[in-house]
Amino acid sequence: MKIIRKSNVQPVAGESPPMRDHTSWTILVVDDDPDVLAITRISLKDFRFSGRGARLLFAQSAKEALEIYRNEPGIALALIDVVMETDDAGLKLVQTIREEFQDHTIRLIIRTGQPGHAPERYVIDNYDIDDYKEKTELTSIKLYTTVRSALKSYRDLQLIETSRKGLEMVLNAAPGMYLHPLGETSNFFREALSQVVRLCEVTCHHENPVSPISGFIATHDHCVLTLQCRHGQVSMDDLAVKSLGERLGNRVAGEGMMLDVAGQIILPLMIQHKIIGVIYLEHVGTLSENERSLLEVFSIQCANALENMRLYDALEGANRNAMRMLAVAAEFKDSETGDHVKRLARQTVETALELGCSNEDAMEMGQASMMHDIGKIGIPDAILLKPGRLTDDEFEVIKSHPGIGAAILAEDERFKVALQVALSHHERWDGTGYPMGLKGEEIPLSARIVAVVDVFDALVSVRPYKKAWSVAQALEEIQRGSGSHFDPTVVEAFLKTHHNRGEKKSGNPFNEMWSRRAMDRKK
Ligand SMILES: [Fe+2]
Repeated sequence: MKIIRKSNVQPVAGESPPMRDHTSWTILVVDDDPDVLAITRISLKDFRFSGRGARLLFAQSAKEALEIYRNEPGIALALIDVVMETDDAGLKLVQTIREEFQDHTIRLIIRTGQPGHAPERYVIDNYDIDDYKEKTELTSIKLYTTVRSALKSYRDLQLIETSRKGLEMVLNAAPGMYLHPLGETSNFFREALSQVVRLCEVTCHHENPVSPISGFIATHDHCVLTLQCRHGQVSMDDLAVKSLGERLGNRVAGEGMMLDVAGQIILPLMIQHKIIGVIYLEHVGTLSENERSLLEVFSIQCANALENMRLYDALEGANRNAMRMLAVAAEFKDSETGDHVKRLARQTVETALELGCSNEDAMEMGQASMMHDIGKIGIPDAILLKPGRLTDDEFEVIKSHPGIGAAILAEDERFKVALQVALSHHERWDGTGYPMGLKGEEIPLSARIVAVVDVFDALVSVRPYKKAWSVAQALEEIQRGSGSHFDPTVVEAFLKTHHNRGEKKSGNPFNEMWSRRAMDRKK
């Protein structure tokens, strides 16, 4: 079981934090009459709804109310007088909250003592309020009922809003997680854990800022890099955490469902009824059915992304093996040393990098170079291995190997670069090559590179029809072919890499890059 642990995930930029105070409902009471404020306080003294009391904030003008509103997130309800510093100060306040702050969740109730200044029909039609009351009709009990009804509406709206945000987050998380098969595995785990913590922060009643949500992801077959947690770094070697992950996995396997006990959540990551890992979180808070469902949807998404990554790895490995098997097959036909294609791959990668190609492109060209002569499978041994000079007819047969190779590699789009190399590695810069007589940059760069490194390696190797040349002779020959047989830029890069290799005595970058990539995939 491999472990990742994380805490203190930053909230999404631009997103308002969830309401933190769940012990009471915050109500803003706006009236320029101190007696009204006092009566309101008395009327709501023992107020309770949904297990929470009322926290009252008082303002004696619209200006003061706006200041409080700006500084107090999570106000559920505002009781607003109309005539205060101006005849329509309360109505302007409503307008500001709804239009400028775009707050459509807070419940706004107009409570006026001078209905003549703001007739009910006019106010209801022109301002986005939730209720209109005249002070004379609002007895203590009616005020209590009105506030309770408004808070119920606020609570329901908030539930819808948090569910919407949660669902949006789950949906938005998908692209981020599915992108990672192309990158490092550890990025996937970081992304997945960050998303689930954010989801909890948005949807769940996470109350305790002293103990932020923390947790880890543990899977059976994926290595995970270390991550920051509140105790510092946790590494793969942390046996205690590994053991915890395994025990949680077993526990979930026994229960077969998500558990949430005392603020802890264990989300199983399941593929085809089999648990492949768990997400463990603590300090989450209580969960409603809806929130549990969202987390379950997220865990399914996470498991699918993980499985997708595993399948991608398997496919990439199979693809790589197929390429190597093809290369080996071609080599058995043509070479006695067995090392030709490996040297070719190394020199192709080096030259491509020297020419400014990206690591990925250079790697792909290196792989492709190994299959440049795959078409020789279709050439009879009597011609291919003939020790003496070939007749014109025999040479025509040899010249068919690029086309045969291209036909073999055309079966799969993933062999596109290999196909280019197989088809065009005997083209010449001056247009006198075969099979199509391409000229200059009409010849794919990959094939121009392989043309140089293939000829060089053939020159320094023993073949049935020739002895090995010295390196100096071979380099001289390559230089001689620059601008006629070979692309001069490629020759220059090739000579430079050859020179550098002599200086550094470096290893095989092709193998090193594969090794690095393999290591990355395992992290
Ligand atoms: Fe060839």
